[in-house]
Amino acid sequence: MNLKVLLYTVFITIGITTASHWGYPDLDADEAFPMWGGLCDTGTHQSPIDLSQKGALKAEYDDLDFHNYNRAHTGVSVVNNGHSIQLSKFQYPMKLERGPLLEGYEVEQIHLHWWSEHTIDNVRYPMEAHIVHRNKRYPNMTMAANFKDGLAVIGVLYHVSNQENEAIDTVLEYLDEVKSYKNMNQEVHMKRPFVVRDLFPTVAGYLTYAGSLTTPSCAESVTWIVLLETFPVTMEQVEKFKQTECDGGRKLKNNYRIIQKSNNRPVLLVLNNRTGAAAPVGVSIGLVVLAALLARFLN
Ligand SMILES: *[C@@H]1O[C@H](CO)[C@@H](O)[C@H](O)[C@H]1NC(C)=O
Ligand SMILES: *[C@@H]1O[C@H](CO)[C@@H](O)[C@H](O)[C@H]1NC(C)=O
Ligand SMILES: [Zn+2]
Repeated sequence: MNLKVLLYTVFITIGITTASHWGYPDLDADEAFPMWGGLCDTGTHQSPIDLSQKGALKAEYDDLDFHNYNRAHTGVSVVNNGHSIQLSKFQYPMKLERGPLLEGYEVEQIHLHWWSEHTIDNVRYPMEAHIVHRNKRYPNMTMAANFKDGLAVIGVLYHVSNQENEAIDTVLEYLDEVKSYKNMNQEVHMKRPFVVRDLFPTVAGYLTYAGSLTTPSCAESVTWIVLLETFPVTMEQVEKFKQTECDGGRKLKNNYRIIQKSNNRPVLLVLNNRTGAAAPVGVSIGLVVLAALLARFLN
């Protein structure tokens, strides 16, 4: 191969990489975080960011309204899209209203990140679930992503415990059927009922800010609502997700985007005004630090 052809090939490869075959670096191999192109590189309201409780503005809103989140859906679709394990096609429409939201938003899909994307007070958690909602004013995700108020995403962080998370366990039941890259983008339908609310049984408060999708196109159309209370997951449950395969059969060992510049964006801290609602954060941070130390040690 002469130099011209080689260079050409390299450029084509880079083009393809940024356009559609974007991915996460292998952190074990010290790979640098890649440029994903477009807004991902040039945006000023990107996500995730570190959420500091101390630096947050105290705010008060009407309670968030969750419609249908307690219902048991059957036949929920589970997919390995090469970047995450994603759930969609819920039997009943789930609507989120009030809190910081001025309009009604409906759940489109739910997916997981192993190692959390957001950090709270610089602590990274072993897992984060994203419940992605579309503002009902817009007909689809593509349209919604063009507007600042287009999407609302609830971020649920998990801390390590020896108590299994049942909702996550339900998802894991289908992992073997979808995890291979040969089955990428092939839907499996859950036989067991799935209750979205089991992913976050309580809401003690949350941190909210204006940000972006954390995957390309990185559209800056997301009202983030990251719950303060964290929920238990076992290290074994998290490890299973790391068997998910992406392009070329490589194991997707981590699928979180690195922390982005906050650019002085306000983060609001909203605490529920109910007695006994505030305790869990301090406790779970201790557990996570312990888990992180253990993980280092076990590796
Ligand atoms: C989204 O909605 C717009 C406006 O109705 C339509 O033009 C577009 O084709 C839709 N896109 C998808 C992916 O459905
Ligand atoms: C919490 O609720 C009580 C009674 O409903 C009220 O008196 C109090 O002002 C509230 N506190 C805050 C911080 O909102
Ligand atoms: Zn996500």
